[in-house]
Amino acid sequence: MGIGAIIIVGAGVVALSTAYDLLAQHPATRVLIIAAELPTDPASSWTADYASMWAGAHYRPIAPSTPQLRAEFALAQNTHRMMKRIARDKPESGCGFMGAVEYMENPGERELQLKSRDIFAGEGDGFRVLSPEELPDKVKWGCEYDAYCIDTQKYCQWLLHQIQKTGQVRVLRRQLSQVLDAFEAAEAVNFPKAKIVVNCSGRGFGDPKSKIVRGQTVLVKQQYHKSVTRQCADGSWTFLIPRPNMGGTIVGGTKEEDDWRSEPRESTRKAVLQKAVECFPYFVDDVSQFEVIRDNVGRRPFRDGGLRMELEELDGDRRIVHGYGAGSRGYELSWGIAGKLVKLLEQATVSRASL
Ligand SMILES: Cc1cc2nc3c(=O)[nH]c(=O)nc-3n(C[C@H](O)[C@H](O)[C@H](O)COP(=O)(O)OP(=O)(O)OC[C@H]3O[C@@H](n4cnc5c(N)ncnc54)[C@H](O)[C@@H]3O)c2cc1C
Ligand SMILES: *[C@@H]1O[C@H](CO)[C@@H](O)[C@H](O)[C@H]1NC(C)=O
Repeated sequence: MGIGAIIIVGAGVVALSTAYDLLAQHPATRVLIIAAELPTDPASSWTADYASMWAGAHYRPIAPSTPQLRAEFALAQNTHRMMKRIARDKPESGCGFMGAVEYMENPGERELQLKSRDIFAGEGDGFRVLSPEELPDKVKWGCEYDAYCIDTQKYCQWLLHQIQKTGQVRVLRRQLSQVLDAFEAAEAVNFPKAKIVVNCSGRGFGDPKSKIVRGQTVLVKQQYHKSVTRQCADGSWTFLIPRPNMGGTIVGGTKEEDDWRSEPRESTRKAVLQKAVECFPYFVDDVSQFEVIRDNVGRRPFRDGGLRMELEELDGDRRIVHGYGAGSRGYELSWGIAGKLVKLLEQATVSRASL
């Protein structure tokens, strides 16, 4: 059965992946994307709330130690499979595969139980636990595997371009004051009558369960060759995320809960670069060698209890499919989330037809 006409609010990685998957599975669907910010806008206009523009982004698997993490583990594995295909067939997308290394100064129980050849990132990831002599000073546990890294702005532009090429999509730039205004906005531009809106607004509408974690990173011109992450005993993180096709390297980064400052902090930039030199001595010898392209500041859209992926029936025959609250994992869960939201859309269409 056809899905008909659907409105998607948002143009971040979650919204765009959902539109892509929806059109791949149901090519006759008409899609209207309504978003305050788009990946094709000038970079200088993006706010810190548009998280997808500011992410690294790498895929850092997390051992499934809680029910929420178990659900996310499955989404991450699905995403890994799809990203592998995109990196192989569409290198121009900004998604590329490379080696990844993790170092932990204070590993959890789950990590300590992992064995080489376990599946960590996804099938065929070449997962290997590092031996003690391979670990840098103070690091208690480490591993390596193959995973993807993403040049985020390029990738979202690519996704948008792919879905527009289908001829089934219209894009409307609009700031909505509530998600339900999407129905009227669609009518006002003569979009075919839609009964379902997909809410991929990140944290745009202030759910009381939403909270933000500020992240500041630095994009440098130097090109590292693998994705490395070190979790330090004091709770801080330092990581290098190479951007495929010589897009430079993201050096990060902070996790600052409820910190709403939109501008980069000079002191943070210095500390992040200094830490990277200390932790990853093979990158550059000295902080002064870094050629900084840009500071990035974004707000990770967290939500208590994790992602909301849910079909909500409204009065009349209208429905919302929610897909927001991806926190720090929007890219690495994106195709898993998209697949789940498309299932909810199919379900919403069937339940409407049976009324
Ligand atoms: C510094 C940093 C590093 C990160 N690193 C990684 C990483 O390595 N790997 C990873 O997987 N993730 C990473 N993330 C997290 C990732 O960026 C987010 O999880 C992801 O971008 C969330 O995507 P989204 O589509 O849900 O929301 P967003 O990207 O925030 O998009 C929301 C969309 O909704 C629209 N919208 C919102 N409100 C309204 C409104 N009122 N009216 C109209 N439109 C509206 C916006 O304009 C936008 O188009 C990082 C984040 C940061 C900040
Ligand atoms: C849509 O998503 C936002 C998060 O951006 C949330 O606050 C809001 O409650 C959702 N809309 C509705 C109508 O539930």
